[in-house]
Amino acid sequence: MTKEEKYKSLLPQVQGLLSGEPDSLANMANLVALLHQEMGFWWTGFYRVEGEELVLGPFQGPIACTRIACGKGVCGTAWKEKRTVIVEDVEKFPGHIACSAASRSEIVVPVWHKNQITAVLDIDSKDLGTFDETDKQYLEKIAGLVYGPQKEIWFAAGCFWGAQKFFKRIDGVDFTEVGFANGQTENPTYKEVYTDTTGHAECVHVRYNPDLVSLKKLTELFFKVIDPLSLNKQGEDEGTRYRTGVYYDNPQDAAVLSEVFSQVMDSLCVKEMPVELLPISCFYPADEYHQDYLDKNPGGYCHIHWWPSNEND
Ligand code: SME
Repeated sequence: MTKEEKYKSLLPQVQGLLSGEPDSLANMANLVALLHQEMGFWWTGFYRVEGEELVLGPFQGPIACTRIACGKGVCGTAWKEKRTVIVEDVEKFPGHIACSAASRSEIVVPVWHKNQITAVLDIDSKDLGTFDETDKQYLEKIAGLVYGPQKEIWFAAGCFWGAQKFFKRIDGVDFTEVGFANGQTENPTYKEVYTDTTGHAECVHVRYNPDLVSLKKLTELFFKVIDPLSLNKQGEDEGTRYRTGVYYDNPQDAAVLSEVFSQVMDSLCVKEMPVELLPISCFYPADEYHQDYLDKNPGGYCHIHWWPSNEND
């Protein structure tokens, strides 16, 4: 079985194991047991965010250090930089904290809940170069499940600065990141996408708890902040990179989305509109500079002028 096949068969097992249990600590404990056993890792565990430190949580494997400061080691770096960190050779990672001399490579994945990092999932291997983009992709999906079920969806709603600020505010959204979707080039930079020749759309990747907010609700909110009749232009921004669209990874979502699209067209008395409804074919996160841009630059350009209040939207 390839690694991807292993993760694919593990994902529904994790969903089944954790479903219906609201206690995140209990879920972390069972999740590490399952991952450790099924994937054969050397050390698998969580560190939980407690104030300015990470504190050891449920784990399987040899004893480990109990506290890690923000920015220290691989775990503290993943927390500080808000991203998954893959280390091919721990000896080459400056500041690596060696809990076990047998660890040779490592991956640390942030756990997001309500748009905050609440823990990290740390996995060590006795071999060099064990972890890659496949581990990142699946472990990011798996890590979010400790707080309940989680689904993903991608919205292109014009300039992604405002779009991210908008989706982050919605109750039930755990994680957002901005990036470029459904174009033809690999790993595009902002500059390349800006030339409008890559086919990519500025997009927000959203992870949400479907028990707290439905896909229908998210999509209805999306339609409140775009002009669905405007082709390749939202607010001041023009170009195919500013086209609008909803991109899904689960074919079952297409029916729900089509229904919302039909309702919007009916309300506008049109038979079609230039908003894409397609499977997600690729998504590349943008640079850190663009992530949470309007939190970092509150006066920055924003084409969205309506915000969900959560009680009254
Ligand atoms: N190596 C980690 C510390 C935790 S152990 O791997 C269990 C780090 O550098 O953050």
